[in-house]
Amino acid sequence: MNKEKCVLAYSGGLDTSALVPYLKEKYGFEIIAVLVDVGRMKDLETLRQRALTAGAIESVVIDAKEEFLRDFAFAALKANALYEGRYPLHSALSRPLIAKKMVELAREHGAKFVAHGCTAKGNDQVRIDVSTRCLDPNVTVLGPAREWNMTRPELLDYLAERGIDLPLTKKNPYSIDENLWGRAVECGELEDPWAEAPADAYVFTVDPKKAPDEPEELVIGFEVGVPVSLNGKTMDPVELVETVDEVGGAHGFGRVDQVENRLVGIKSREVYEVAGSLSLIMAHREIEDLTLTRELQHFKTMIDQRMTELIYEGLWFSPLANALRAFVEESQRYVTGEVRLRYFKGSCAAVGRRSPHSLYDKTLATYGSGDTFSHESAKGFIQLWGLPVEVWARKHLG
Ligand code: ARG
Repeated sequence: MNKEKCVLAYSGGLDTSALVPYLKEKYGFEIIAVLVDVGRMKDLETLRQRALTAGAIESVVIDAKEEFLRDFAFAALKANALYEGRYPLHSALSRPLIAKKMVELAREHGAKFVAHGCTAKGNDQVRIDVSTRCLDPNVTVLGPAREWNMTRPELLDYLAERGIDLPLTKKNPYSIDENLWGRAVECGELEDPWAEAPADAYVFTVDPKKAPDEPEELVIGFEVGVPVSLNGKTMDPVELVETVDEVGGAHGFGRVDQVENRLVGIKSREVYEVAGSLSLIMAHREIEDLTLTRELQHFKTMIDQRMTELIYEGLWFSPLANALRAFVEESQRYVTGEVRLRYFKGSCAAVGRRSPHSLYDKTLATYGSGDTFSHESAKGFIQLWGLPVEVWARKHLG
């Protein structure tokens, strides 16, 4: 009889490596390991081989960098998505994509199961699980790392007992998740929210104290809500995001030290390095300031907020998220233009913006000459604008 197959979201780390023999032994599965490359991953071939060494029958690496940016990160950018005002959701955005790739592979291989190595305390288990069920309710999601209760040394022994020797002993004190849209660091000394994050928690951003003494400017060009150029040069999404991230990080911009509310009910302290995504969100908002009508812009902040929550909470593929994305997409029609960002010693500021669709009209705004604003109309407008409260005041205050 043919064995059941299971697609495993593989990272090359200890947990997902141990999951290969674990799933084989516990369920009798054949394991198809999949490593979804959403950026910043090194030695992919070594990692791919590692899954085979651990006992997978097949191991694939999927380059999803561009898809991740275009379909996930930039869709969130259009909604200026920052969870609790600060975290640009890089981890939250990658999970639905990983789920999508797992479901595609499961279909290709006739697998009824997918598995991940998420812990029971995090949001990522929710996102992978719910995204998978949303895409294919007939696929069963397994997350054995939630219940196997094995410590790191025990996991290493578990693999050694099975003759699986993987170069995995070096343990970073932190739990890290990184991709093109950002880097998250948790655990270790960060678990004390009063203690300042140790210097080694940061990798992509320099200490602002050590940042260059000269500021640096980047001109970011947007078309229909999406960043397309840097300093006037058209760039593909991956190179563009990487470059903004490097420039911002080199000036000490992009460090976020945040206590956030997880979906599973706990508060956690996280440190993020998000120079690229934060810069782009800041620049994107500038073009919106210039091109959206007041009504659309104000209403959109509510949609943005709800979208952000849905992304964080694992509901990327839900009907509500689809409907809100359609709204956001429509809102971006004229969000085209350029923004000048200036980095200096840990800060990033927009110092200029322009757009062919700009609604900023100098002849209306000016306090200088050439003013076309109807000053007489202001008086009548305010008369009627304040009428309801005036009527109320007359009635109740005499
Ligand atoms: N707290 C963030 C989130 O829930 C980051 C999670 C990072 N994941 C990780 N496995 N370290 O989206």
